[in-house]
Amino acid sequence: MSQAALVILAAGKSTRFKSRTSKVLHPIAGRPMLLHLLASAAALTPARAVIVVSPGMDGLDEVAAQSPFPVRLVVQEEPRGTADAVLAAKGALEDHDGDLLILYGDAPLIEAASMRALLEARVGEPKPACVVLGVGLEDGVGYGRLICDAQGRLDRIVEYLDAGAEERRTALCNAGPMAIDARFLFGLLDEVGSDNAKGEFYLTDVVGLARRRGLTCGVVEGRPEEALGVNSRAELARAEAVLQERLRAKAMAGGATLIDPWSVYFSFDTVIGQDVTIGPQVIFGSGVVVGDGATIRAFSHIEGAEIAEGASVGPFARLRPGTVVGANARIGNFVEVKNATIEAGAKANHLAYIGDARVGRGANIGAGTITCNYDGVRKSRTEIGAGAFIGSNTALVAPVTVGEGAIVGAGSVITEDVPADALAVERSEQRSAPEGATRFRQRRAREAGEPGKRSKKG
Ligand code: UD1
Ligand code: CA
Repeated sequence: MSQAALVILAAGKSTRFKSRTSKVLHPIAGRPMLLHLLASAAALTPARAVIVVSPGMDGLDEVAAQSPFPVRLVVQEEPRGTADAVLAAKGALEDHDGDLLILYGDAPLIEAASMRALLEARVGEPKPACVVLGVGLEDGVGYGRLICDAQGRLDRIVEYLDAGAEERRTALCNAGPMAIDARFLFGLLDEVGSDNAKGEFYLTDVVGLARRRGLTCGVVEGRPEEALGVNSRAELARAEAVLQERLRAKAMAGGATLIDPWSVYFSFDTVIGQDVTIGPQVIFGSGVVVGDGATIRAFSHIEGAEIAEGASVGPFARLRPGTVVGANARIGNFVEVKNATIEAGAKANHLAYIGDARVGRGANIGAGTITCNYDGVRKSRTEIGAGAFIGSNTALVAPVTVGEGAIVGAGSVITEDVPADALAVERSEQRSAPEGATRFRQRRAREAGEPGKRSKKG
């Protein structure tokens, strides 16, 4: 198969989506739709790639920079329909000798296998002039219908708004993607008109035009959920659901146990090892890697974190970007960690904030420990040596270092470095008055009974 050029249509009005940001830049599983498509298309190593965008569309440079292969952006001046959008790419593709694979930016779930199948169908005998991706949908409201002739060959595509009741009963719907020879397509596009319900130039008219020239057109059937077009926020939520299903299935296929898979949310890039157990209601933001045998307990929120093998996180833990949890380390409930390394075997089991810090091997962080990393202007670091013990409710005022094997007494506010193996305590002295409590209660009782003085209850 010679290398095809890729065209992604990402201009247009997004009327039903109601957003200041183009719908194709909205994320699903933490990544803009457009980048999902580009990532899938990367498997085809396209000869070149063009994205058709609207004038003044923000956020595209970032997408282009993250594309797995170089992309060129071309502007469609006005949203006059999908055929007009392809025409906008003509200048960038005219000299391309071979096929175009045209994708719609708002159909981000199309899989590489379907893209490849479309291009492969183009080399069949007799060679179809164009091949489209069809899906069987029970209730394909909004989707174009693939109308076949008596021999079952694709004859034309009728857009939903233009279709009659009989045509709408056709279950075979147009998913959007199309494979077609570049030069042939640009020859046909001039003949596409806009005398239809939307008053737009439809790319889908190309099928009927090719047939009128006596050529055949083909259909490759895809899976219904990959065809999902995102035209509204409700469809965005459905696309998210489909993608989450795929990501959960992938984690489980890789040997992870998900106790309640439907309540776990992954990011497109989450990496989960083998024999990892993930409890209910766990949410992964982007940039998380979980090593083999780690346990992530319920209700944890994790992003930008590396969790090594055998570590335990949660329940109710929050790991923010820059967190590294070493092998067999433990992060317990209501512990927040940010930009900090918790080395192997270290523990912060309850109610703590560890930010801009290193917690050495096997160190123990008591309940309620806070690294005071921010003074309102600057962020500073806390270093805790291997095997150190930080007593409960300690405030470590950064920049500060607690040496290896040191002990910090509970309730201390540590502002100066603690040498290795030292015992540091910073709190006022405790006084206990013998029988003081008894005397206190007696005094209160006398006050309550005194005539002339009203007790609170009286
Ligand atoms: C389109 C198809 C329909 C198919 C459906 C699948 C046409 C005429 N219809 O309908 O057969 O079932 O997708 O999801 O193609 N765009 C531009 N410029 C424009 C108009 C659109 O770049 O002037 C882009 C949009 O960003 C979008 C894609 O093309 O990503 C499809 O456009 P949209 O208006 O959403 O078409 P549908 O009505 O969904
Ligand atoms: Ca659409």
